[in-house]
Amino acid sequence: MFTKQTLSAFVGALALAAAKTIPASDEYPTAAEIASAQESVLPYSPVSNVKGLAFNRFAQIWIENTDYQTAADDVNFAKLAKEGILLTNYFALTHPSEPNYAASAAGDTFGMDNDDFHQLPANISTIADILDTKRISWGQYQEDLPYAGYQGYRYPESGANEYVRKHDPLILFDSVTNDAVRPRQIKNFTTFYEDLKHHSIPQYMFITPNMTNDAHDSDITVAGDFLERFVPPLLRNEYFSKDTLMLVTFDESGNYSVPNRVYSFLVGGAVPEHLKGTTDDTFYTHYSIIASLSANWGLPSLGRWDCGANLLKLVAEKTGYVNYEVDYDGLYLNETYPGPLSDGDYSEYEPLWSVPATSGSCSAGHGIADVVKKTYHGLKPTYNYTSPIPYDAKTGNNVGLKYFRTLKNGKKQSGITA
Ligand SMILES: *[C@@H]1O[C@H](CO)[C@@H](O)[C@H](O)[C@H]1NC(C)=O
Ligand SMILES: *[C@@H]1O[C@H](CO)[C@@H](O)[C@H](O)[C@H]1NC(C)=O
Ligand SMILES: *[C@@H]1O[C@H](CO)[C@@H](O)[C@H](O)[C@H]1NC(C)=O
Ligand SMILES: *[C@@H]1O[C@H](CO)[C@@H](O)[C@H](O)[C@H]1NC(C)=O
Ligand SMILES: *[C@@H]1O[C@H](CO)[C@@H](O)[C@H](O)[C@H]1NC(C)=O
Ligand SMILES: *[C@@H]1O[C@H](CO)[C@@H](O)[C@H](O)[C@H]1NC(C)=O
Repeated sequence: MFTKQTLSAFVGALALAAAKTIPASDEYPTAAEIASAQESVLPYSPVSNVKGLAFNRFAQIWIENTDYQTAADDVNFAKLAKEGILLTNYFALTHPSEPNYAASAAGDTFGMDNDDFHQLPANISTIADILDTKRISWGQYQEDLPYAGYQGYRYPESGANEYVRKHDPLILFDSVTNDAVRPRQIKNFTTFYEDLKHHSIPQYMFITPNMTNDAHDSDITVAGDFLERFVPPLLRNEYFSKDTLMLVTFDESGNYSVPNRVYSFLVGGAVPEHLKGTTDDTFYTHYSIIASLSANWGLPSLGRWDCGANLLKLVAEKTGYVNYEVDYDGLYLNETYPGPLSDGDYSEYEPLWSVPATSGSCSAGHGIADVVKKTYHGLKPTYNYTSPIPYDAKTGNNVGLKYFRTLKNGKKQSGITA
């Protein structure tokens, strides 16, 4: 049996290196270190059953770098989408990959415009913190991860890419890796199938296929074949699928010069029968997912771009929240903004970590997480996080876009991206 002491010593050793400059030994652990961790680190699979308004489990699978129409033209993507709800205005946030994955966990890109080895400071909260407020079990399944909580840059360390850290959202955060247990909730596909067999699948999960299956090093046909093998058996599995909402989406579009709209659809037992085979043209971003989890389970916001994000219609209809409509003319979400993780596009700016909102109710309606309020108390938020369109202003793209809605009492509200 693996003792708690060995585990914290092990995780502690990795976390020691988790500063902005990462020693090579952490980025590329030796084969012996990997083999020893494979022997000793036990995956952790907490379970819970907290009822949500629209679903009791949420799973998102991310495929890579593909324009909307290219995915729509793939027979397997199109076929699966017809079993659920196709989201026709779902946007990724920026380029390249890593900032999108980081944003899916923390509600911000922090200016990241690259796929470097990043480790974000402990005062940045993530989806793990808000799910933990109600003990909603969470996990990640990263195909070909050599062991739970592996923190290297890629695996294997040479040859064909399989696992890459840039596609592993929660591993990027000290608030996850400094903990003795949390890294063990980041597991591989072998553990996924064990968890499935033992009915120990969490209520929230992020699923990353390897670099071939996710289209990154292959193409949309290979990813479509992967989905066709992976998803339908899960949908037919009563344990997995009952009251589950599964999102299939892409980290970003393939062409950086087009609006960053990505082919996305919802399937699973939580999709009402009458909505199967329909489309939903609401404006969503990756931030809408964090906000929708919050609204579904009554969780607080991270106070970042999740705060103003539109909610998945299935959830908004339950809470009565009225989503914004947006002006698509000029909306790209293909750039980034000043931040400490930027590779130099913003050298004229102070690379400050952005300050989240610490007050307001947010689209999910449950205020801001206590940990965020405590950390950032009294500081002025860097951006207007109540906007459903995040800031994206490198070249002035995305500036001056209108968003608007009419509340149920007839009151009109609008805003303009600054
Ligand atoms: C998956 O993770 C487990 C547990 O951490 C590890 O023992 C196993 O070797 C990994 N499997 C693969 C295929 O990498
Ligand atoms: C990716 O996963 C598939 C199985 O899902 C496996 O056959 C393949 O070898 C893995 N790695 C690469 C580089 O394709
Ligand atoms: C990317 O999009 C731009 C703008 O629509 C277009 O001019 C260009 O040809 C596209 N590039 C590729 C490789 O399709
Ligand atoms: C974003 O798209 C606009 C419009 O096509 C283009 O001018 C700009 O170069 C793109 N930005 C990046 C970083 O590719
Ligand atoms: C959060 O951590 C970063 C990096 O250590 C630091 O620069 C920043 O001042 C901290 N913010 C707050 C509010 O403590
Ligand atoms: C922030 O955005 C909201 C709408 O989401 C708008 O009502 C408000 O005026 C904006 N605040 C500022 C300071 O621009």
